[in-house]
Amino acid sequence: MSQSPLMPVYPPSPANFVEGRGVELFDDKGNRYLDFVAGIATNCLGHASPILVDALTKQANKLWHVSNSYQTELQKTLAEKWTSVTFADVVFFTNSGTEAIEACLKTARKYHFEKGKPEKIDIIGFDGAFHGRSYGGINAAANPNYLHGFGPALPGFKQCKFGDLDALKAMIDEKTAGIILEPIQGEGGCRAATDEYLKGIRELCDANDILLIYDEVQSGAGRSGKLFAHEWSGVTPDIMAAAKGIGGGFPMGACLATEKAAVGMVKGVHGSTFGGNPLAMAVGHAVFGEITKPEFLENVNAMANSIAQAFEGLKDTYPELIEEVRGKGLLRGIKLTIDPQIVRTKAFNNGLLVAVAGGNVLRVVPPLIITQDDVSEAVAILDKALAETREELKNK
Ligand SMILES: Cc1ncc(COP(=O)(O)O)c(C=O)c1O
Repeated sequence: MSQSPLMPVYPPSPANFVEGRGVELFDDKGNRYLDFVAGIATNCLGHASPILVDALTKQANKLWHVSNSYQTELQKTLAEKWTSVTFADVVFFTNSGTEAIEACLKTARKYHFEKGKPEKIDIIGFDGAFHGRSYGGINAAANPNYLHGFGPALPGFKQCKFGDLDALKAMIDEKTAGIILEPIQGEGGCRAATDEYLKGIRELCDANDILLIYDEVQSGAGRSGKLFAHEWSGVTPDIMAAAKGIGGGFPMGACLATEKAAVGMVKGVHGSTFGGNPLAMAVGHAVFGEITKPEFLENVNAMANSIAQAFEGLKDTYPELIEEVRGKGLLRGIKLTIDPQIVRTKAFNNGLLVAVAGGNVLRVVPPLIITQDDVSEAVAILDKALAETREELKNK
């Protein structure tokens, strides 16, 4: 095969997927796979959801794009919907998670600038975090693997140990503008912040006029069993990034903020050509309509319990391979004692897509519409993949 002209930043694909339906994917050879990756926690309604296909095709026949020089009702009404169900008063739509993060970081710094404290620019992030691949995103997460080779780290970013409130307290000073964290770390290995930890961070923010920024790009849109994962704790942020699931597979993100936090985000200070584009908004309305139905989240919680139980069962069966079961809702991780790629590949060869995350974690982020049959099939395949791994290790 001739060399691909694609920039080789991703590993080669084990299959060429050509079609998806619900939780199923099909490659160009007609092989069927059960998709427990969902475009990395994105296709919340599964592949080719008739509701989303209908919304997108109807809009495609009407209006694609006008730019934000001419804001559409579609954008305003979707912002009204999201603010009606969250802490937020205002929304800025983007095309991706990392752009939503950029908008969050700029909103936080601008708040302090408007308040006459331009020296307050520092954003504190945490180890194991992932906030996307923009310069702001990689500096906020400060993962050395993603910063390496891209010049000096940007000023105004600090990194603290995740889960350590005392370390955070010690790091805060008069330059601290914001604290950014994922209520459940996705890429970092499905690590959920405890309610007490979030409460403690909120108190530190309130006491020091620091803005609390949640990155719910992966944990939001119903994935945790609530619309946003922080709702489990009741601790709200000042600013929040959402993406992935809110577009159900159509590129879309959002920065949500309180009116107070967004005080500096006035005409001309930020923008995007495509953010809030009519196609994305039409899909966004359809996604919102589905994921805000009570029965939708009921299914997420029921399936999450079923998966958690089944994974604990696997842990009992394979104690030498599985250390811990982690996560919340349908953002689940199995911490392995070995490289998770080994099990991931075996699962793939048996027809199941799963992802990996930091710290030897096998990550499972299926569409949120999965059924008990899907869970049973996925667990059976994982069981087989683990059994094959055990056998292979025995023979080494
Ligand atoms: C928590 C979190 N933040 C930000 C991002 C970046 O989103 P995107 O890839 O859409 O830019 C991701 C993507 O995986 C994510 O998981």
